[in-house]
Formats: sequence, structure tokens, C-alpha cells
Amino acid sequence: MRGNAVQPPPQARAAAAPALAARPAGAAGSDADSWSKLTRTGGAGAGCRRRPLTLLRADGVRGRAARRSRLIPIDTTCAGSGSPNDSMTILVTGGAGFIGSNFVLDWLADPATRGLPLVNLDALTYAGNLHNLDALRGDARHVFVQGDICERALLDRIFAEHRPRAVVHFAAESHVDRSILGPGAFIRTNVEGTFALLEAARAHWGALAGDARAAFRFLHVSTDEVYGSLASDAPAFTETHPYEPNSPYSASKAASDHLVRAWHHTYGLPVLTTNCSNNYGPFQFPEKLIPLMIVNALAGKPLPVYGDGLQVRDWLYVADHCRAIRAVLARGRVGETYNIGGWNEQPNVEIVRTICALLDELRPQPQGPHARLVQYVADRPGHDRRYAIDARKIERELGWRPAETFATGIRKTVQWYLEHAAWVAEVQSGAYRDWVAANYGRR
Ligand code: NAD
Ligand code: DAU
Repeated sequence: MRGNAVQPPPQARAAAAPALAARPAGAAGSDADSWSKLTRTGGAGAGCRRRPLTLLRADGVRGRAARRSRLIPIDTTCAGSGSPNDSMTILVTGGAGFIGSNFVLDWLADPATRGLPLVNLDALTYAGNLHNLDALRGDARHVFVQGDICERALLDRIFAEHRPRAVVHFAAESHVDRSILGPGAFIRTNVEGTFALLEAARAHWGALAGDARAAFRFLHVSTDEVYGSLASDAPAFTETHPYEPNSPYSASKAASDHLVRAWHHTYGLPVLTTNCSNNYGPFQFPEKLIPLMIVNALAGKPLPVYGDGLQVRDWLYVADHCRAIRAVLARGRVGETYNIGGWNEQPNVEIVRTICALLDELRPQPQGPHARLVQYVADRPGHDRRYAIDARKIERELGWRPAETFATGIRKTVQWYLEHAAWVAEVQSGAYRDWVAANYGRR
């Protein structure tokens, strides 16, 4: 395998992994119910065949440096958790990024899922950061593979070795401004990568039988941006809202949503799609509005507000998004889409004002209030005016609602960035500076 893993999947890894019994689609109940009612049919102990060695990475270096870093062979015996159909492993793509790493950490902490191993496939682009997963060093339930979702041979190898019972697909190019400056990477990863992953999943699922086949899921993580922009008085996006993507990013995500839909309708692949609003929280790369404003304000740098700053987004704390994904994976109806949002529409200037007020309280500056740093700059081309999610379907069918209010979530988030100065400094080194110059230099 070309990928490198930071966590070995030793024999102990799957020892507690029960096999998934088929559940009726849309069955009600808690996530804990869904996962604890699984039938235990042994694990990786007896019957494991020896598999080839995989190159596993001993350090936590990311990006280019990672490719140069020292590789050590570690035995991956039993990585596939035993007999062909009994795996409880899930495959997460993009699990070193912002939402993906929160999902991985929460998955392994949630009492309902924490015995269940996962394989984390991530290319470690500029947005992927293994330090997000430092808390999992030595945790045998987490297997990291550095690799590209566009590489079909690598995907086939992962499916064959780990036999995942589900795929949770986060991997993407995710930043609208980058998609405007360079759309090619978005078409490649978001469209071609999703296509490759669907095909690999289809081949794997097609060879399954019985309960394993019935239980397999492909959960595609998407965005509310596929629906386009709302007028100020228009009702929020429901799952049946027409697709009207406006940026290269949202167009590429819309294309991936359509592929996922088609693979269900044509081939019967058991897919689930989630369309979520703007996330914020720990580990978000400081190219996105909230972390950018926090780190710039802390450094006494300008706070660049695009256009008139009255564009509206619906903000959701990332842990609530991850909990929603777990609920959809456990109990969502196959072939359905679920909108996920925070019931929290706010104009950008209000978000920036709140961040400044929190920093004035938690880290006052002698020069005066942080809001003095706000600068209105040239607008984003094609800037969507408003997004808003109608999240009644997921509440009605799966009982999910956000747990955090914006007041609690943004305070936690600001505090997290204050307490993780080393993480911020590390992600701001190198190529980050080039991005800031490219995006803001000409505004
Ligand atoms: P992110 O940019 O922080 O992380 C993306 C991850 O994918 C990174 O770790 C990166 O290394 C990895 N990746 C990129 N290209 C890859 C490839 N070819 N192969 C393997 N890995 C690759 O993104 P995020 O904000 O965490 O978003 C995750 C997913 O959620 C995306 O699909 C995004 O469209 C969706 N989403 C994001 C938000 C949001 O507000 N951030 C909201 C709704 C939906
Ligand atoms: O709605 C979900 C989407 O939210 C996700 O699918 C995307 O992956 C995610 O990046 C996000 O897209 P946005 O474009 O809404 O997020 P961003 O944080 O880039 O911008 C939020 C708003 O803030 C948007 O109206 C643009 C504005 N903005 C952003 C930046 C980076 C500024 O005014 N100044 C800035 O410097």
C-alpha cells in the first residue's frame, strides 16, 4: 500500500468489534441502541490470516514533510478484523481535516461507537493535519492511511484489507475562495475522487452477502451550498430544494451529490447524503471566516469582511454536525438526504462582532477593542447572499437537534484557539502565507 499509517492496527484492535446485524431502514431509537443491538460474532483473534506489512508512520509530521518522513514497517496482521463479512470497521475519508478529525475523535469517544475501529484515509493536503489526531496516538482503534481518494488501486486495497461496513466520506477541497482561484483541484477530488470511491465501494458491497450486504452504508457528507443562494425572505432550504450551485466548490459538491444519488438509483448502492450548513469549532483551518477572524484579531491584523458583510450563513458547532452524521449512519433511511443546520442564521458582520467582543473579554488588547481591526474589502465573486437550513426532517425522523447554542459554541471555539497557540502557529507556517497573499493581497 502506498499510504502510511500512524497507528498500527494490532491484534487487539478489532477484538471488541461485533458484527453488524441488519436493521430495518428508518428504525427509531438512539444511536446507542443502534450500535449496541449488534450481534457479536467474534473478532479478529482466531482465524486471522497474516497480511502483508504496511508502511506505518511513526511521527506526526504532515504535508510534504510527511512524505519525506521516516517510514517503519509494522505488522498489520488482522487489520481486516477476521472473516470476510464480520467487519465493524468504518472507512472515513478526509479524517485529518476539520470536520473529519472531529468526527474521528467523537466516534472513538462516543459510548455507542467507541469500541468500533476506523480506517482514516486522508491525502494530507494543506487542510489535513495529523496533529488534530494527536489524542489518538497509540490508540489501536484508529488506523491512518495517507493516500488519495482518486487512486482506485489504493481504495481497492483498503476495502480488501479492512472490509469496512460503512464509508463516511468527508474528503474534499472545501474552501470557496480557493475554488475561485483554482477550480481544477475541486473537480479532481470532489468529483473524480467521489466517483472512484463510489466505484470501489460498489465493488466491495457487490461481493458481500447476507447481513453484511444489508448493513453496508455509504454516507456522503455534503453542503447546503449546493442549493444556491436564498433571498432574504425565502424559506430555508429543505431536502427538495432545487440544486443551484454558484461557485466552483458548490458545483463540484453538487456533482458529487448527483453521482451518489445515481449510484443508488442505478446500482442500488445503499447511500445516505447529508447537506450541512457552515460549521465552526476546534481544528478549523484559519482560511474560513471564524478561525481567520480569531487568529487575525489575536495577532492585531486586519479583519477582512467581504463586501457589505451582510451575507447570511447558518452556523453549526462541529460536534453537533458529527453527532448528526452518526445518527444518519445508524438510523437514516437508505437513499435519503438529510439537511443539517444550526437554526442560527447570522450576517457575517454579526459573527465578527461577537468574536471581537469575546476576545475583548478573554484577551483584551491595550490598543483598544478588537473591532477596530475590521476592514471592508472587495467582495467574493459570485458571493452567495444567504444560506439557511430547514432541519426539521432529521429532527422528525432521527430525533437530532443541535445541542450547542451559538453563544456556547462560539465561546468554546474562541477559548480553544486561545489555548492552542502552537497548533495555530504550525498551520500558519509555510504555504498558509502564500494563500493569504494570494487571496487578500489584491482585495
Ligand atoms: P477540510 O478542508 O478541513 O478537510 C478536508 C480533508 O480532506 C483534509 O484533511 C484533506 O487532506 C482531505 N483531502 C483533500 N483531498 C483529498 C484527496 N484527494 N484524497 C484524500 N483526502 C483528501 O474540510 P472540512 O471543512 O472538514 O469539510 C469536510 C467535508 O464536509 C467536505 O466534504 C465539505 O464539503 C463538507 N462540509 C463542510 C462544511 C464546513 O462548514 N466546513 C459544511 C458542510 C459540509
Ligand atoms: O455552507 C457550508 C459551507 O460553509 C461549506 O460547504 C464550505 O466547505 C465552508 O467553507 C463554508 O463556506 P463559506 O464560503 O460560507 O465559508 P467561509 O468561512 O469561507 O465564509 C463565510 C462567510 O464569510 C462568507 O459569506 C464569506 C465571508 N468571509 C469569508 C472570509 C474567509 C469574509 O467576509 N471574509 C473572509 O476573509
